Amino acid sequence: MLQFILNSTTIKTELAAGSTVLDFVRYHKMLKGTKIGCREGDCGACNLLVGDFENGRLVYRSVTSCLMPLGNAQGKHVVSVEGINMDKLSPVQQAMVDTNGTQCGFCTLGFVMSFTGFVLHSQQKNYDEAIAAIDGNICRCTGYKSIERSAKLITQQLADKPGTNTISWLVNNQFIPDYFLGIEQRLKDIKQQIQNAPSENGEVKKLRIGGGTDLIVQRPLAVKKIPVHFMLDASSLKGIEIISNECYIGASVTVSEFIESPLINQLFPTVKKFIKLVSSTPIRNMATIAGNLVNASPIGDMSIFFLALDASLILNNGISLRTIKLNAFYKGYKQTDKEANEHIQKIFFEIPSAQSTFNFEKVSKRMHLDIASVNSACLVIMQEETIQTIHLSAGGVAPFPKYLFNTCTFLAGKKITAEVLNKTVEIMNAEVAPISDARGTEAYKRLLLRQLFLAHLLKISSSSPVIKQVMFA
Ligand code: FES
Ligand code: FES
Repeated sequence: MLQFILNSTTIKTELAAGSTVLDFVRYHKMLKGTKIGCREGDCGACNLLVGDFENGRLVYRSVTSCLMPLGNAQGKHVVSVEGINMDKLSPVQQAMVDTNGTQCGFCTLGFVMSFTGFVLHSQQKNYDEAIAAIDGNICRCTGYKSIERSAKLITQQLADKPGTNTISWLVNNQFIPDYFLGIEQRLKDIKQQIQNAPSENGEVKKLRIGGGTDLIVQRPLAVKKIPVHFMLDASSLKGIEIISNECYIGASVTVSEFIESPLINQLFPTVKKFIKLVSSTPIRNMATIAGNLVNASPIGDMSIFFLALDASLILNNGISLRTIKLNAFYKGYKQTDKEANEHIQKIFFEIPSAQSTFNFEKVSKRMHLDIASVNSACLVIMQEETIQTIHLSAGGVAPFPKYLFNTCTFLAGKKITAEVLNKTVEIMNAEVAPISDARGTEAYKRLLLRQLFLAHLLKISSSSPVIKQVMFA
């Protein structure tokens, strides 16, 4: 039995936990404001808000409901556009009207929900953040300028929004209906009831699912029919902590939790800039770090990120734990060194030294919601002009996320000269095997890999004439 709140109504349902929240909302509750566009997380027409506790605070995040399994709604507040309707339009809805931000209207509900997710965020109230909130929404009619003007109007009205008691302020200013004021206590009661409910009948769960953002695209019927083990909210798989000189990340930490973590921002001050290139806000709000690693996609952005940190995985088979280097985890196209009874428990890496530089680069056909043609990350420690240690990874150039062993070995201890850089590109090319596909020809991907490698080095030494000379040769 699943129990959650949909808008102002408490829901109890025995529907398949692997069916999507989108279908539940539209076809079981007949709330047709939520639209179906792509069913792959690409358009944002189905965007909803989901409220849950994070570090004891009720936080709302936008999600693509077409990729959210009903099981992940357990104990949470799901808000569709009907759930923010009041007697008159909210300032978000009114801004879309006033700026002609809607034409055919098909995408409009998705934009309204993404903007409402932005206004509900306790820390966000500026224009750039409003624009970032709609990075997962596509509109075929408006040309976006009018929607950007809506974003401006909305942010103008948030000047006095406080960082605490945000929900009360939003209710008082009629951004959201007043039933929101009672949600926190209702969710606490529901979570208590779920905790007190008798445990399940020992049914064998054959499929593990985190955020669902890949599995529901790849195997929607399997997720619906096979008993699913939901991992997203398991407390043992949450949290980011530093122990001794290592950073440990729970497998079910979402990408958004990762980039908002004060610890991670301390270690990587530009992490938000890097990860802005990864999918879109509503997807990052659901997708887990471990899900992206275990997916083994050749262009998995987070795999590339963690390979360059020389990260390791802790795998759990229910009885014992084992540790494996991420660069030894990938065995072939979509093949990993993970047994069927194992799941990732944690990801960890040694905290980069103060002398190191980390960089992530990605080239794709569009900025948001796109798969990389080539992506690459690099962690390097220099001693004067000599590379002391380097970890370099690249995606889109091999059947799996690639740690460039030979290139790293060659570069260690080398001074950066034009000759060394040209030789590096030669070695790098010998250890990759890109294929021509919709994201670029083999030659183009080899060129991208070379340029991204040089871009990493430019981050270390932006004025190096040697690097520039090779880069633009
Ligand atoms: Fe397109 Fe869900 S229907 S993102
Ligand atoms: Fe038609 Fe956006 S108004 S798709």
